[in-house]
Amino acid sequence: MNVTMKEQMYEGKAKQVFATSDPEIVMVHYKDDATAGDGEKRGTIHDKGIVNNKLSNALMQKLEKEGIPTHYIQELNDRDTLVKKVQIVPLEVIIRNVAAGHFSLRMGVPEGTQFKTPILEFSYKCDDLHDPFINHYYALALDLATQEEIDTITKYSFKINEVLKKIMADVNIRLIDFKLEFGRLADGTIILADEISPDTCRFWDATSNAHLDKDLFRRGLGGEEDAYQEVMKRLLG
Ligand code: TMP
Ligand code: ASP
Repeated sequence: MNVTMKEQMYEGKAKQVFATSDPEIVMVHYKDDATAGDGEKRGTIHDKGIVNNKLSNALMQKLEKEGIPTHYIQELNDRDTLVKKVQIVPLEVIIRNVAAGHFSLRMGVPEGTQFKTPILEFSYKCDDLHDPFINHYYALALDLATQEEIDTITKYSFKINEVLKKIMADVNIRLIDFKLEFGRLADGTIILADEISPDTCRFWDATSNAHLDKDLFRRGLGGEEDAYQEVMKRLLG
């Protein structure tokens, strides 16, 4: 891929996005910065950017092979990746297999309770409103996505859950829940965007139920740096 880097287009809490000489391609740079509780808690997790870049790229390549279109194009180095430029659909899609986090708080169900069937939730991606919980009628009414897009996103999200659960089970990790974001290409095609990493998934060791994800940082439990490395070691060797 012969593209040259241009100006920064956007800086988020964990990543920066740069334009390239190709208008349909952007470069993502993964930082070590970590926030929790809507940016209230700030810190860094040493080498998190490297782990998330490599893991997300590896998982997206596996998902592509299973028929999920993703933004992934090419890993340039430890922290930088070329991806397809998309317009992000302003929905955070959360899939839950086991009760944890906000589900447990909202529903009074103890963390670790296995669900009979997976749950899909939408939040409106809006920092000022703290990503409020919505349903698909809100998304249609506010024109956040069309019915056809919601159907595609729903179908892909459940399929991603099946593929990821298997990948993680093979390395003795339980996939508790995770968050996805999708984007539209210029022609309107829906593809998986953002990242899949210990920042955006809950991973529990299948034997000990130890947290191997960002909850260690969110909850001030410590050990997050080692946990991120452990997930990378199990998945990428
Ligand atoms: P929750 O239980 O806090 O709603 O989180 C569900 C999943 O979504 C969990 O795997 C962490 C992930 N997540 C994000 O990726 N970004 C966020 O801003 C939040 C709140 C959760
Ligand atoms: N929503 C949180 C924040 O932006 C991130 C998280 O909990 O993963 O601070």
